[in-house]
Amino acid sequence: MEQNIPSLMLADHKKIEFCLVELKNNLDSDDALKCFNQLKWTIQKHMFTEENAIFTMFNPQDEDFETTEKLMKDHVKILEILGKLEVAMKIKTNIDFSYFESFFTKHKDFEEELFYPSLDRSLSKKQKKSVLRKIIEKV
Ligand SMILES: [Fe+2]
Ligand SMILES: [Fe+2]
Repeated sequence: MEQNIPSLMLADHKKIEFCLVELKNNLDSDDALKCFNQLKWTIQKHMFTEENAIFTMFNPQDEDFETTEKLMKDHVKILEILGKLEVAMKIKTNIDFSYFESFFTKHKDFEEELFYPSLDRSLSKKQKKSVLRKIIEKV
């Protein structure tokens, strides 16, 4: 399969979704926190890559800059929701992933349908190469 920015980031989203399914299936088991930590780790790595390999390509005068600002705000919110869920998991009360799931899904769908495809147009060949190198390097 050809390695391009959308395909690699999409595969990463799939990993996050897999972790979430694993977690939901294991909420009542001894592995619940382990699954939660795996989900958090996978999301943090993904967001680190987006923020440091992709978003940094844009300057305030660029068309996509505003979008990256919005996506960054979403990332902060995602971590905030996860932080609350981590506490809930530890004290074993109010464990409900539905808000997280709907917020994350909206964020992910926007990236997949609008943001990642727009990179092809907004980044130069050289920039795409550099982003791709960073995405691969982080693994
Ligand atoms: Fe994101
Ligand atoms: Fe993403």
